[in-house]
Amino acid sequence: MIQIEGVSHTYRTTDGRDIPALEGVSLEVREREFIALLGPSGCGKSTLLYLIGGFLPIASGSVRVHGTPVTGPGPDRGVVFQHFALFPWKTVLGNVLYGLEKLGVPRDVREKRAREFIDMVGLTGFEESYPSHLSGGMKQRAALARTLAIDPKVLLMDEPFGALDAQTRSLMQAELLAIWHRSPKTVIFVTHDVQEAVYLAQRVFVMSARPGKIKAVVETSFERSDPHIFKSKAFVDKVDEIWGLVRDEAMKAQKGRPF
Ligand SMILES: Nc1ncnc2c1ncn2[C@@H]1O[C@H](COP(=O)(O)OP(=O)(O)O)[C@@H](O)[C@H]1O
Ligand SMILES: [Mg+2]
Repeated sequence: MIQIEGVSHTYRTTDGRDIPALEGVSLEVREREFIALLGPSGCGKSTLLYLIGGFLPIASGSVRVHGTPVTGPGPDRGVVFQHFALFPWKTVLGNVLYGLEKLGVPRDVREKRAREFIDMVGLTGFEESYPSHLSGGMKQRAALARTLAIDPKVLLMDEPFGALDAQTRSLMQAELLAIWHRSPKTVIFVTHDVQEAVYLAQRVFVMSARPGKIKAVVETSFERSDPHIFKSKAFVDKVDEIWGLVRDEAMKAQKGRPF
């Protein structure tokens, strides 16, 4: 579904310095697979996601989605960011309708579809609410509904629950899995949280400190509907294994930073 080959990315700062963010990243994601990109802050996770999303030019290497080289953003790839990108002047319904309008979906179909997805993310009753009246978790649900409503084949999520409190976050994680089971999509989920990656993803791609490379790929297989999964030995062992891989990189990433 997604093929990334030898992708590197270097940022040029305004004062002319080069910051190598990614170096020779190759990976493949299968159709309807849920993968996590895990790594310390600054290792290039967002950069990789933006390249797949088509928000940054691909200067070296190639990114293909369903065999087609990525040249820009498109409705086949939906994005959800950490900071809720809702229009504050539109209601929940208005926000979800927006993407459908842009896609040229007829008015009557549009409204029905928007309400379905609002229901799917558990926001029924809040259709007419404005973002400023919603909690963080509800805003993120609305953002998710807006993205899911355009029915992208690929869902790109950049630390979408990073700004939420622990309880809301774990609720949203479970809900995301439930939604993914109901309407399977290829998901690339960026996080720096080992537990979150292990819980959500079928495969966890561990990235090295900047410039980011894929350091390891770890498969997981759990009965995720088990309410005690977080305490199960298989889960705890997997978190330990991956934490061991991430720890070195996190320490490298910390070096040279003022404390
Ligand atoms: N616009 C930019 N200009 C210069 N450097 C940048 C820019 N955006 C990101 N970087 C640098 O590139 C590296 C990777 O960034 P990013 O992909 O955001 O990492 P992550 O999402 O893993 O935290 C970081 O060291 C960051 O400081
Ligand atoms: Mg990031």
